[in-house]
Amino acid sequence: MKLKLYLCAVLLLGYAMAFGQEHQASQNFNSNWKFFLGNDSTAFRPDFDDSKWRKLSLPHDWSIEGQFSEKHSSTTNEGALPTGIGWYRKTFAMPLSSKNENVFIDFDGIYKNSEVWINGYYLGKRPNGYISFRYDLTDHLYFGNKLNVIAVKVDNSAQPNSRWYTGSGIYRNVWLVSKNATHFNQWETVITTPKAEGNVATIHVNTQIHRVNMKRTSLVTTIYDAGGKLVGSDRYDMDEGWQAQADVKIKQPQLWSVNHPYLYHVKLQLLVAGKLVDSYQSTFGIRYFKFDQDKGFSLNGKPLKIRGVCMHHDMGALGAAVNTRAMERQLQILKAMGCNAIRTSHNPPAPEFLELCDKMGFLVMDEAFDMWAKKKNKFDYHLDWAKWHKVDLEDQIKRDRNHPSVFIWSIGNEIREQFDSTGISIGKELVGIVKKLDNTRPVTSALSENDPKKNFIYQSHALDLVGLNYHQEAYADFPKNYPGEKFIATETMSALETRGHYDKVSDTTVLWPHNSKSKFTDGNADLTVSAYDNVAAYWGTTHEATWKIIKKYDYLSGLFVWTGFDYLGEPTPYPWPARSSYFGIIDLAGFPKDVYYMYQSEWTTKPVLHILPHWNWQPGQIIDVWAYYNQADEVELFLNGKSLGIRKKQGDDLHLAWKVTYEAGTLSAVSKLNGKVVLKTSVKTAGKPARIQLIADRSTIKADGKDLSYITARVLDEQGNMVPDADDLIKFELTGPGVIAGVDNGLQTSTEPFKANQHKAFNGLCLAIIQSGLKGGKIIIKASAKNLKPAILNIGSK
Ligand code: GAL
Repeated sequence: MKLKLYLCAVLLLGYAMAFGQEHQASQNFNSNWKFFLGNDSTAFRPDFDDSKWRKLSLPHDWSIEGQFSEKHSSTTNEGALPTGIGWYRKTFAMPLSSKNENVFIDFDGIYKNSEVWINGYYLGKRPNGYISFRYDLTDHLYFGNKLNVIAVKVDNSAQPNSRWYTGSGIYRNVWLVSKNATHFNQWETVITTPKAEGNVATIHVNTQIHRVNMKRTSLVTTIYDAGGKLVGSDRYDMDEGWQAQADVKIKQPQLWSVNHPYLYHVKLQLLVAGKLVDSYQSTFGIRYFKFDQDKGFSLNGKPLKIRGVCMHHDMGALGAAVNTRAMERQLQILKAMGCNAIRTSHNPPAPEFLELCDKMGFLVMDEAFDMWAKKKNKFDYHLDWAKWHKVDLEDQIKRDRNHPSVFIWSIGNEIREQFDSTGISIGKELVGIVKKLDNTRPVTSALSENDPKKNFIYQSHALDLVGLNYHQEAYADFPKNYPGEKFIATETMSALETRGHYDKVSDTTVLWPHNSKSKFTDGNADLTVSAYDNVAAYWGTTHEATWKIIKKYDYLSGLFVWTGFDYLGEPTPYPWPARSSYFGIIDLAGFPKDVYYMYQSEWTTKPVLHILPHWNWQPGQIIDVWAYYNQADEVELFLNGKSLGIRKKQGDDLHLAWKVTYEAGTLSAVSKLNGKVVLKTSVKTAGKPARIQLIADRSTIKADGKDLSYITARVLDEQGNMVPDADDLIKFELTGPGVIAGVDNGLQTSTEPFKANQHKAFNGLCLAIIQSGLKGGKIIIKASAKNLKPAILNIGSK
């Protein structure tokens, strides 16, 4: 029976604006854990003495605290940091008032092979390091004075088990959830928008209730706009069964899009015999989209090229330990570049990452696996495939299906089963699992075999989108090779750069490694790669080459560049001491490489004029000067006031180039539209390092023990020019309520630790990440270096 009801004020009382996705009835369970790095098989016992263990707060990644070494079993591909086994324990009291409740513990992610005990009782094992999971503690807890002990063993010792840095430990958030015996089941509330077009949108809610008796149960659904105004409601009464629904119409809906990420809030209340027993709150978006074999992608009826990047989950010097501000900063830097989509390569992300994408306006391709039953590394997930893949995939889809940002599911990256007939059966099985839980989004798989006849995952004919990794040379023939199919470039480029390093000549493209057999002996002796966009791995291209193709054809719905940021591990093309990737448009510390401005000039309408390289060379050297620009029809270059000529992009050019005979001084550029100046920029020859400049990305942060301010230290000469090759050792001193959470310089071969209060600059720049404490006040950061004038900066923590 279903009744429409205008809601009584009583039900509205519980409404709070600040709700996220599932964690309202839950309390953050991150503080007061004890940690031991090593194995002790008795540590699960409640009476185990952990008084000597280290006290810490989660999320925690012990790998990032270690020293770089080529001797670790994890290899440079996994970041050359220590892994191993670690134990966590937490002792806690449960109030007597919870005695009749159902109590759960939710782990957002543990890398990996976690095993959990409550008061000595074994709850289970979860091998997958990226999946969120819950245990029911109800029958094993003490209430009142007697304390409870939860123990977690994390085993990341079998190496290698990944192709990139994973981190080790309880690196995502943990929640304690207390519920009435009758409650909404976790991840079983599904919010869809069967009709999003036109003046009235329809919202459908379907939920599953854990019922302990058959008293009359009601579901009351209310929907609020972003300003908190009630915009629709529904009531559903049931005497039996465990499924409940709601249908709500919203007039003049505000659509969610990448430029206008409008979020509604839904609140569900569960009443048994008129009494409120549980509630659920979530944000959601109203949007519709389509992939078309001829026209590509459209969002809310408007064509939109997917300008995406692939991202691994590390946050540079902070490692894998989830920090919402660190993720938000990465996304802000990408947003400013014009990026509108992220591929969570090659695993489910932290829940907070998707919440940020919902809020900030990113489309997300949510990926499940990097391997199925066939391995890529000896100890990777293929060992757990048979037992776990169904549960893991189901849990991922259930957890993530209410996010408006998520628009594609990927069932795997460059899966080995492409090459044999098991690709057909497993492909079908996985797509079936996804579709059963969500049939509102297309499913793809990132394929590396481009021949449709040889690709068995493609041959499953279960994919909605053909996802190709690389094979840019074949994109133009896509409609011919894949008649009737829809295209997405799931992974592209794999271009390589070291920030601020320039090898001349710039106008020849270099492939490193050259082919599958080439060794790393022909690169630069200092393991740098030129930051002119002219170096790529042999399976990829420069940034410009692939973007030109994607841009050209409407049916190419878009791309995901490998990668947005450099990440730890996979240091192609170099061996140790290289330990992080060169693929990023932005380096590991978050400093943009030059090609960032190529994308910005193409992907935004913000006026851009950027010239490279720096201007410190030998007199008489011939230097390639490049300019990225937009919103203008010409650029004029000047050296010490003398014009070196006006250039205009021809054809599909994405940059301008001049050959300039070097002389010290000022190189400047002016962009003009119809003869009117749009932008001016210049780069000056720098003298010797003289002083440090500190710049904070945020000068006020929250005193919540988590918030961050990213402080860039720039090494300047007397005149204030950044010294482009400065590598001074910068020492940071912090006073006040905060800590230095990490230091970095973006150099892929640095073996200095991230957890320290000093770090060398690289090509003029260094980074210190400041984290607030729980008390407010003034945080003072001083940076000093030998022979340089120090700098001081204040950060307010409130
Ligand atoms: C791809 C792979 C990525 C990364 C990349 C490096 O083939 O999918 O995970 O390894 O190569 O170029």
